[in-house]
Amino acid sequence: MAILNLQLVPIPLLVLFYFLLASPPALACDAGDRAALLKIKAGFLNTGKFTSWNESSADCCAWDGVMCYPLDAGRVTSLNYHNIDGASGGLSGRLPDELGDLPFLSNLVLQNHSNVYGVLPLTLTRLTRLSFLNLAHNSLSGALPFFLSQIPSLNVLDLSFNKFTGLIPPEFSNFPALEYLSLEDNHLEGVIPSTIGNLSKSVSPLHVSLSHNMISGDIPAELGVPNWGMLILSHNNLTGDATPLFGANKAITYMDLSFNKLKFDMTEIDFPVKLEKLTLQNNMISGSIPVQINQLRDLYTFNVSDNQLCGLIPAGPVMNRFDDTHFLRNKCLCRSKDKCL
Ligand SMILES: *[C@@H]1O[C@H](CO)[C@@H](O)[C@H](O)[C@H]1NC(C)=O
Ligand SMILES: *[C@@H]1O[C@H](CO)[C@@H](O)[C@H](O)[C@H]1NC(C)=O
Ligand SMILES: *[C@@H]1O[C@H](CO)[C@@H](O)[C@H](O)[C@H]1NC(C)=O
Ligand SMILES: *[C@@H]1O[C@H](CO)[C@@H](O)[C@H](O)[C@H]1NC(C)=O
Ligand SMILES: *[C@@H]1O[C@H](CO)[C@@H](O)[C@H](O)[C@H]1NC(C)=O
Repeated sequence: MAILNLQLVPIPLLVLFYFLLASPPALACDAGDRAALLKIKAGFLNTGKFTSWNESSADCCAWDGVMCYPLDAGRVTSLNYHNIDGASGGLSGRLPDELGDLPFLSNLVLQNHSNVYGVLPLTLTRLTRLSFLNLAHNSLSGALPFFLSQIPSLNVLDLSFNKFTGLIPPEFSNFPALEYLSLEDNHLEGVIPSTIGNLSKSVSPLHVSLSHNMISGDIPAELGVPNWGMLILSHNNLTGDATPLFGANKAITYMDLSFNKLKFDMTEIDFPVKLEKLTLQNNMISGSIPVQINQLRDLYTFNVSDNQLCGLIPAGPVMNRFDDTHFLRNKCLCRSKDKCL
């Protein structure tokens, strides 16, 4: 057990410790939350590992995957069933409407249940305290649930590795508190909505992945507006000019535009100097690699293979980190005047 130096602990924390140690164990969870959980269980076609969720067990705060915080309030704040190993077979069926009947829920994770399918229930918008929603690696389908943007506190939304189809709805630009959005590996198509600039009103920096879809059209200039921390657009059919995304003063650390059909001239670009990962391979990028790239002190992942680049690779502390396999199959890239790739 860690030794606490009590002199360093602020008084309010001491009071908190006192209550954590002194309060009696909660007798039971909130009756309404318990009833909702039993209906949620009944709403699936099978019950997965929910054997502890049963009529003879009063305290739902002790049920598998359920958490109440603070414990003595007896309100369910977290429901977490990540089917990591697939051992119990996972859940099957649609997401039950009663998921919306846990008003104190802030964390909802139902991940890797390949037999969970269908659309998301509209009742999720009742979860006004929800901040973390992870429904990745299921078989959810239909249009993206535009209504999730009505959840004011939503911080993290992970819908990756599902079967969502159709367009990215304009509502997805209006999350008030979003920090992380992954729509990776779905069947999304159409263009990136120009309203994406509205995401700049969210908490920043923003981390977004739209990779491995069938998104097409030109990159809208508005995509340059939000304060990105991470922007992953790889493996789509994007065209046009990505230069609005660049700029030396931007905070972005991870940019992946690889495997698209982007067509622009790199010569005049100032790369964001905080970039750690920059992958642009498999596009139609022309021009030459700017000398400024050697200012990207933290750049350790880099690839510009399979483009139309030409000219000298600017020798310097950053570019010297990368061997020829990071520059393959361009038009006329050279290490020096008499050493071209
Ligand atoms: C009901 O849940 C409790 C734990 O919450 C467990 O000990 C008990 O075995 C369960 N009963 C059945 C019938 O599954
Ligand atoms: C999902 O479950 C499968 C087994 O069904 C397992 O092999 C895989 O690692 C799991 N993946 C994730 C992301 O949890
Ligand atoms: C984007 O924000 C503007 C200004 O706040 C607002 O008028 C507009 O409706 C928003 N766009 C969408 C698609 O909601
Ligand atoms: C890109 O578009 C072509 C046809 O225009 C299509 O065959 C291909 O599947 C698309 N690829 C992706 C990743 O969307
Ligand atoms: C860079 O991307 C190309 C594909 O365009 C790939 O062949 C090459 O192995 C990659 N280089 C590195 C170092 O990953």
